[in-house]
Amino acid sequence: MATGGATVPDRADSVPGVDILSHDVYAAGMPLDAYDVYRATAPVAWVNETPANGHSGSGFWAITRWDDVVAIHKDWRRFSSQVGGTEIEELDPDAIVARRTMLETDPPRHTRLRQLVNPTFSRATVQTYADHAGALVDDVLSESLSASHGSEPVDAVGMIARELPIRMLTGLLGVPDGDAPTLFHWADQIVYHADPEYSEAVIDRTDTDPYRLLPFRSPTSLRVFEYVNRLAAAARGCERGDVISVLERASVDGVPLTERERGTFFLLLVIAGNETTRHSLTQTLLAFADHPQVLGQLREDPTLIDSAVEEALRWACPQIHFRRTATEDVEIRGETVHAGDKVVTWYPAANFDPNQFAEPRRFDIARAPNRHVTFGGGGPHLCLGQWMARLEVRAMIEALVTRVERVERAGDVERIRSNFINGIKRAPLVLHARR
Ligand code: HEM
Repeated sequence: MATGGATVPDRADSVPGVDILSHDVYAAGMPLDAYDVYRATAPVAWVNETPANGHSGSGFWAITRWDDVVAIHKDWRRFSSQVGGTEIEELDPDAIVARRTMLETDPPRHTRLRQLVNPTFSRATVQTYADHAGALVDDVLSESLSASHGSEPVDAVGMIARELPIRMLTGLLGVPDGDAPTLFHWADQIVYHADPEYSEAVIDRTDTDPYRLLPFRSPTSLRVFEYVNRLAAAARGCERGDVISVLERASVDGVPLTERERGTFFLLLVIAGNETTRHSLTQTLLAFADHPQVLGQLREDPTLIDSAVEEALRWACPQIHFRRTATEDVEIRGETVHAGDKVVTWYPAANFDPNQFAEPRRFDIARAPNRHVTFGGGGPHLCLGQWMARLEVRAMIEALVTRVERVERAGDVERIRSNFINGIKRAPLVLHARR
């Protein structure tokens, strides 16, 4: 039997007619108005999964207020990542085990798994890549500026936002540069499982049951697992510090990771390190295009850089939701969440919560404090890669300040069909070089 699911049969939607779930909604744009309605009228809202919203589970609680998202993320004992995983999909017990990564593991095992890679992604380690990130941004920006010949549009996703995270990650992961395009193409196919442009098996349009034991029900995961096995075999006996080598040697409480655990661990890092960062860079460029005064503000007062990075991250919010499962009955804002219920926290809704952020729809690079939940609400699963993401966004903003006079939109952006990642496929922009 699948885990997680409603304990109250035939419960009505708390906010009927306002859809925050279907992938099509997100292909059109972020439903910030719909989140406003949820936050204001039903901050702990029951949502049924129906053919109309493209889902077939037994329903879940949608959490849209900032303080509830934070409280739930910190309370991992009552809101488990492990019991039912972190996706809305209800998994059978064998699928939970087969697909589990540290993201879907509660402490204490979670702590041990995370310790394997914490040193690689710590703030101090990541800071040592600052020059490298600066040089990479300079490279990709030079390529874009020369491709745009002063006024020709370039696709900012393809030329800048996609390139930077990949070039940052390959060395850290232990992936040969030549393999990167294929590996990251596979990652796109896996995580954008609802978008026919990427996915071989579109989650709500084809029968993906044969792949239910694979991450995101994507057959492409098998290619990644084979690839990881090959890399790990080549790394055996070498005392290198990259992720593949660390995972090849890794054991928890004296028990080596299984091949599958190693494969899903690696895949988690490839997806989490690449996709979300890509979209935070694109959204930052778009925010700068829509707020042309910001580059001037930063040139006048370079001390605004730290708060500008945080505001860009709040604004971009590339991860849309993650799920927990209640382990006991809990009352939140007068609603009884029963043990076993799915509880889904919506990060963009929290990042635009007026009770936490004054004038949340104003892009304010001086905003302080700025306790956005772009990297999660805190607790054990707070994003492992937050310092790397910050480094990349910062490097790009610094390069824009130095080299670009103005960022201009040059057409409509195309969005990914996904309620999971707030992602952009193509963003035509003109980058006007400074003279
Ligand atoms: C702007 C970019 C990024 C965003 C928006 C983002 C978002 C998030 C969020 C919301 C979580 C919390 C998951 C939860 O509580 O269930 C998370 C966890 C995680 N992130 Fe990120 N992330 C970003 C960049 C990165 C990078 C660069 C990496 C590096 C490889 C990374 C690796 C991870 C991992 C491994 C976890 C799971 C941590 C755990 O379970 O302990 N992320 N991320």
